Amino acid sequence: ELSPIDKAKFVAAKRAAELVEDGMRVGLGTGSTAAWLVRHLGDRVQDEGLRIKGVPTSTRTAQLARDAGIDVITLDEAGTLNITIDGADEFDANLNLIKGGGGALLHEKIVAAASEEVVIIADAAKEVGTLGAFPLPIEVIPFGWTTTQMLVDELLVSADVMGRRITLRMNGDKPFRTDEGNHILDLHLSRIGNPRQLAMALNQMPGVVENGLFIDLCDKVIIGYSDGRVETRD
Ligand code: A5P
Repeated sequence: ELSPIDKAKFVAAKRAAELVEDGMRVGLGTGSTAAWLVRHLGDRVQDEGLRIKGVPTSTRTAQLARDAGIDVITLDEAGTLNITIDGADEFDANLNLIKGGGGALLHEKIVAAASEEVVIIADAAKEVGTLGAFPLPIEVIPFGWTTTQMLVDELLVSADVMGRRITLRMNGDKPFRTDEGNHILDLHLSRIGNPRQLAMALNQMPGVVENGLFIDLCDKVIIGYSDGRVETRD
């Protein structure tokens, strides 16, 4: 028996898996919702003989995909993707997102940008009026990361945000490392008044590799509910 939240993720992922057609090159997201997608796609590969190539957005997802019997290729082998299906931490009415709760934002954004269609799967709790209650992750180069943090803090003074606390993401007693070996700073902002402007300003900073704001990248959000209902926004 699935918990209510898992049921919501399960049904959203199942609907999204139905969008995938034979022969497609598919970007595979990261996180607990995307893990359901990988399982549903694996079922279709086994049961229907669906032939797809998957491009995982993390080493974790790559492992899940192989275990599910999905052919895994690199983004460089794929070139472009027909569709990417991924989770998110927040989405708003413009389908702008905060991602990176799982720390895979950099590869997720590269894969999303390479895709003809980007579909986000989420439970209803991820929908917000204004982005920012979920801490915004930014991926930073380890070299000089405390200096980068100071520069980001200065930037936030003049940005249209409410909070300013910045924390280094940890993995036990060590700084968390992304698949690229970088660190993650989590920006506790409460509300982000102008996500587009903030995303651009952050990516201008030396030491910042990428930020978790996904602006104009998402084409469709599939929302799952714990009673099994599914709703699509596009
Ligand atoms: C991974 O880096 C994130 O962008 C995930 O997509 C996000 O954290 C959603 O994860 P869940 O599906 O587990 O909520």
